[in-house]
Amino acid sequence: MSENAEDKAVSSPAPSDGAAAKTAGTATLDKGVAPGEVLLKVTGLRKHFPIKKGLLQRQVGAVRAVDGLDFEVRSGETLGVVGESGCGKSTMGRLITRLLEPTAGKVEFEGQDITHLGVGGMRPLRRDVQMIFQDPYSSLNPRHTIGTIVGAPFKLQGVTPEGGVKKEVQRLLSVVGLNPEHYNRYPHEFSGGQRQRIGIARALALNPKLVVADEPVSALDVSIQAQVVNLLDDLQQELGLTYVIIAHDLSVVRHVSDRIAVMYLGKIVELADRESLYRAPMHPYTKALMSAVPIPDPRRKNAKSERILLKGDVPSPIAPPSGCRFHTRCWKATEICRTTEPLLVELQPGQRVACHHPENFADQAPQDTVLLSAAKEAGELVPDAVLEESAETSAAVAAAVAEEDAQAPAEASAGAPAEETAAKATEETAKATASRAEESVAGSEASEGESQDTARDGAGEAAADETPGSKDA
Ligand SMILES: Nc1ncnc2c1ncn2[C@@H]1O[C@H](COP(=O)(O)OP(=O)(O)OP(=O)(O)O)[C@@H](O)[C@H]1O
Ligand code: SF4
Ligand SMILES: [Mg+2]
Repeated sequence: MSENAEDKAVSSPAPSDGAAAKTAGTATLDKGVAPGEVLLKVTGLRKHFPIKKGLLQRQVGAVRAVDGLDFEVRSGETLGVVGESGCGKSTMGRLITRLLEPTAGKVEFEGQDITHLGVGGMRPLRRDVQMIFQDPYSSLNPRHTIGTIVGAPFKLQGVTPEGGVKKEVQRLLSVVGLNPEHYNRYPHEFSGGQRQRIGIARALALNPKLVVADEPVSALDVSIQAQVVNLLDDLQQELGLTYVIIAHDLSVVRHVSDRIAVMYLGKIVELADRESLYRAPMHPYTKALMSAVPIPDPRRKNAKSERILLKGDVPSPIAPPSGCRFHTRCWKATEICRTTEPLLVELQPGQRVACHHPENFADQAPQDTVLLSAAKEAGELVPDAVLEESAETSAAVAAAVAEEDAQAPAEASAGAPAEETAAKATEETAKATASRAEESVAGSEASEGESQDTARDGAGEAAADETPGSKDA
């Protein structure tokens, strides 16, 4: 896959753009959008891959890989994108870098609609938006030297760097921590980590504004992962880059992201700044993902393992479940979850969530209390000890959030209503959860009551008290 994508990434722009010949002194190019302003905006983005059958190749269905994404990336930030395998992360990355044509929706870069730009229209943009691919083994052409690979973007864009291509490539190699003398070596002479550095050097060649890194370290040894993550972090600070970093778990993105989008079956289910997401995740799926992250805090090394076991695989994106797509695996699912799709709404400042019964927040559908049978089974998979502990954690987190919100600028009266609502809502969460759980027990069979009660009470709370990771950790 990477090879194919790479070909597209570097071969689509033809080198003959007359206006293109400009000097690429990395420090001299302007960065356009000011830091903190929206660099990339995505609205209602969809990609459905048609499934065709028979001699006539009639379309019989579609893989709904990406099914309605709305988000923005601000200049200078790192947006982490996480989710299980097959949820559409790579497809999203290829859509925003325009390596794939969207089925519907809109992609805007620096305010310009780039959704359906052709090869010619995209040519100048290919400099600004670059992609780093997951597999450093297949994404580098084995027949080309490192010099040719890293220098290819200059050739393809018709750009002549100051001092010539060779000098600039050698500079880039040293920027990413490789020996510039290795200019004439071939990819097979490098380790996985070194190859990923070569991929990064190539992505940086044209001084891009946005770098989309698709699982940049997942093919590397753990010891090498940290080095590459740190390199990306350093480069961001030095070059003012904006990143979208895709990963399949939260342990990589937690160290580098300012905000994190959690994807499930082609949709974003939660989008929040890192602190909020780690302190008080609201979507049950985020909770489950976080419970699988190893605890890095040495003070908690003896803490009990708190894992939420999600039942079954991700359902097929060909026929995703009705209503909330997570309802077949969620331990909190009720009837409304099966029938009505929850919208991604901002429940707290900077925290958007798509859930009828969010964690650490007031219930959005308090009248709906009877668990679906799938939810009962999912609850049973979470061991009782974990449920008890996570129920306590949940109450503690809700109280801490409420307390912090209450302390937070009471003076800032203009912005008060939203914050008051949030504080009040979180205060009410513990009460609401407790009463809902009781109602839930009443509404379901008495024999199942107790374990479901606990499950619903806070199965997803595990790991909520983890200390948020440091960006520099
Ligand atoms: N070219 C394609 N044709 C048909 N289906 C596709 C194509 N590319 C991706 N898909 C399907 O779209 C869904 C999302 O794929 P995608 O590669 O975006 O997932 P992902 O989240 O990146 O997964 P992973 O973590 O395994 O890389 C999958 O079900 C995949 O099989
Ligand atoms: S509680 Fe309902 S809406 Fe929320 S994640 Fe679970 S199934 Fe979806
Ligand atoms: Mg992928």
